[in-house]
Amino acid sequence: MPLTELKPDQYAVMGHPIAHSKSPRIHTLFAAQTGQNLEYRAILVEPGDFAAAAHAFRAAGGKGLNVTVPFKQDAWVLADLLSARAERAGAVNTLIFESSGIRGDNTDGPGLVRDLTVNHRYPLAEKRILLLGAGGAARGVLHPLLAEQPVQLVIANRTAEKALGLALRFNDLGRVSACGFAELAERRFDLIINATAAGLDDAVPPLPDDVLAAEGWCYDLMYGREPTAFVRWGREHGAVQSLDGLGMLVEQAAEAFHLWRGVWPETGPVITALKKN
Ligand code: ATR
Repeated sequence: MPLTELKPDQYAVMGHPIAHSKSPRIHTLFAAQTGQNLEYRAILVEPGDFAAAAHAFRAAGGKGLNVTVPFKQDAWVLADLLSARAERAGAVNTLIFESSGIRGDNTDGPGLVRDLTVNHRYPLAEKRILLLGAGGAARGVLHPLLAEQPVQLVIANRTAEKALGLALRFNDLGRVSACGFAELAERRFDLIINATAAGLDDAVPPLPDDVLAAEGWCYDLMYGREPTAFVRWGREHGAVQSLDGLGMLVEQAAEAFHLWRGVWPETGPVITALKKN
């Protein structure tokens, strides 16, 4: 039978809300670029229904899922086998359905690291990194960040105890410590990563004006049509680069695509396409 007559393999992203998701567009572009015969759609799932929805998708022949807010912890529970980074993250954004069971991985952190180190050629080894926030987003990127062996990684959070808890959970992987925002006075960092939810209110955590070192970079895990509050903060405080999370979004998708299909798509043209509209 000619390849064109084969039924495409089915993938989807599940979340609530989901209508805004760029993942179907990204994966459809990846598939066209690499000649992979697949379909990818967005599925709205009601809170509490994730496991049933994921099992139903698999039973119908689905090959894999991406998982977004608020189901990443549910997906972590659902997976039979977890990668080390997903195990640590306590969250899964990619499920791979295999005949032997369901594998769970977390490609958010690798996506961030690839965007910085490959797309922007900014190595993280020997850098002093400040990670703002201690929620799910921060926890999801810690393992891959520490694997790059920064000279120091400080987690700062509005609720300092939560930052401390995260640091304790990850301190066997590298030099990681924690504090509240007030304790950042007199400290300097080469890279500041915003993993707080403050941007949802167009706000930025209270940071000392001189916390970014000369030649420093800023990176916001969030992205938007307009520059985010933290991207603007970086520009106003002399960042050489102040990036939003669009590159990370496309890179985490590429990591998932590779896990499912065994091929790496080219991310540059997709990032460019998404920036246009
Ligand atoms: P996510 O999955 O996006 O990380 P989360 O787990 O609810 O969401 O975590 C939100 C993070 O943003 C937390 O670190 C939170 O700080 P607290 O732990 O003190 O609540 C942080 N955050 C939310 N709004 C903030 C604001 N206005 N200023 C600073 N930090 C904020």
